[in-house]
Amino acid sequence: MTSWWQSGTIYQVYPRSFQDSDGDGIGDLKGIEARLDHLVALGVDAVWISPIFPSPMADFGYDVADYTGIDPRFGTIADFDDLLAAAHARGLKLLLDFVPNHSSSEHPWFQASRSARTDPKRDWYIWRDPAPGGGPPNNWQSFFGGSAWEYDKASGQYYLHLFLKEQPDLNWRNPAVQAAMLDAMRFWFDRGVDGFRIDVLWLAIKHADFPDNPSNPDWREGMQDIDRLLPTHSADQPEITGVVTAMRTLADQYDERVLIGEIYLPFDRLVTYYGPDGGGVHLPFNFELLQTPWTAQAIARLITDYEAALPPGAWPNWVLGNHDKPRIAARVGQAQARVAAVLLLTLRGTPTLYAGDEIGMTGEPIPTDRIRDPQALREPGIAFNRDEVRMPMPWNDSPNAGFTTGEPWLPLGSDWRTRNVAAQAADPASLLALHRDLLHLRRKHAALATGDIALIAVEGDVLAYERTADDERLVIALNLGTTDQHVTLPEGELLLTTLNEPVPEADRGGEITLAPDEAIILRVSR
Ligand code: NOJ
Ligand code: MG
Repeated sequence: MTSWWQSGTIYQVYPRSFQDSDGDGIGDLKGIEARLDHLVALGVDAVWISPIFPSPMADFGYDVADYTGIDPRFGTIADFDDLLAAAHARGLKLLLDFVPNHSSSEHPWFQASRSARTDPKRDWYIWRDPAPGGGPPNNWQSFFGGSAWEYDKASGQYYLHLFLKEQPDLNWRNPAVQAAMLDAMRFWFDRGVDGFRIDVLWLAIKHADFPDNPSNPDWREGMQDIDRLLPTHSADQPEITGVVTAMRTLADQYDERVLIGEIYLPFDRLVTYYGPDGGGVHLPFNFELLQTPWTAQAIARLITDYEAALPPGAWPNWVLGNHDKPRIAARVGQAQARVAAVLLLTLRGTPTLYAGDEIGMTGEPIPTDRIRDPQALREPGIAFNRDEVRMPMPWNDSPNAGFTTGEPWLPLGSDWRTRNVAAQAADPASLLALHRDLLHLRRKHAALATGDIALIAVEGDVLAYERTADDERLVIALNLGTTDQHVTLPEGELLLTTLNEPVPEADRGGEITLAPDEAIILRVSR
């Protein structure tokens, strides 16, 4: 028996940028509700919403000041309940974003913790004395630049923050923290959410003794501070298993809820987050497509290595975009983005699609005075400016692309008048139409949704594989390059091609030529 999170497709919404309903230029819950029909027409199964909890927005919601509330910019708890009901009424699952590694410095827990060394919540965060000669307790760096330690004059100690100083790290070795955070998860499960994406899960436990991290021999001038050191003692510690198991035990008390871990680790470490006997997260995010060179050889190797690394019973997943990384259409271009869509939606495992990628949003440089991303502001010109992939969703060619009646919090992409959902919905040749076709095929063919995978050709720019289930056999062939490619495939019926003027069906199967940037799906008889 497969679960919805295995056969289904997940769609990520960055709530500030999806749809504004009240004219403040910031997307909100009512806005998401108003756009649910886009997701239904697209054919995805679940929506994951980046954080919507009360937050000072130092990191746009990844600094949570109350784990069981809704930020007024996004709406009210009643709006949330309405959204959840509206999603469920359409057969869509809804996932929230849980941020366990750190809270906001304005969370009452941290306010108490910093108030005095003797405060009962002192040990809810990570406080250390200065190094013997003064200065930070160790050499750890923040992901957003500079030391990961902030000095608190009043108490004479430093606190740890792997991200902004406004995001103090919680102490997950403290059972009271674990209990309080699990209570927060329970609150949302009880309200009916279908699961969580869990922020920076691999960082949540640090080495108990806080040793210095070793330096990274590959660091060069122009790279981010975080890469100066190897994360030997600040990440992926053995005790994380206990945390993950506790979260999973809670999720298992409910019906078919899913836990997805944000984990940037190589496959051999990534797959340990499935947990002993599969008792960890259901889906440790597989981010390799976000950073792989876009060649047939590199992608074939990823598929082989990933499949080989998966423990028995572990369900795979693939991610092509998110709110932190350059968009696929920017990386590979619009023509190849069509091939990438076929890849994402025909690989074995749960796909996660980032809002805007279905219409080929690229992201563009933002005028310096409009940059809002704290990472880009702290390491300008070095760190990726995440604003580029957080620009408002263009819905149509009305003012502000139908995103807001006010001033959008980030500029719209320059091509919104032509690249928008309404225009592409009306155009069978569009990238959006291709996504709809692919998601429709995925629902129709068990071979695509839940079948097995095997590589059948990796030659030049061609990557071909088959997906099989029961008596069904589909062959997918991708041309990752810009020249004609010749390949021999089993004879079959053409179910889909990314070309808008396909060559005659009779030419498919056998010795065939794939056009530049072409991907096809064939149904092959056994
Ligand atoms: C990962 C999130 O995806 C990113 O947007 C955020 O800045 C960091 N975690 C810190 O929470
Ligand atoms: Mg709004």
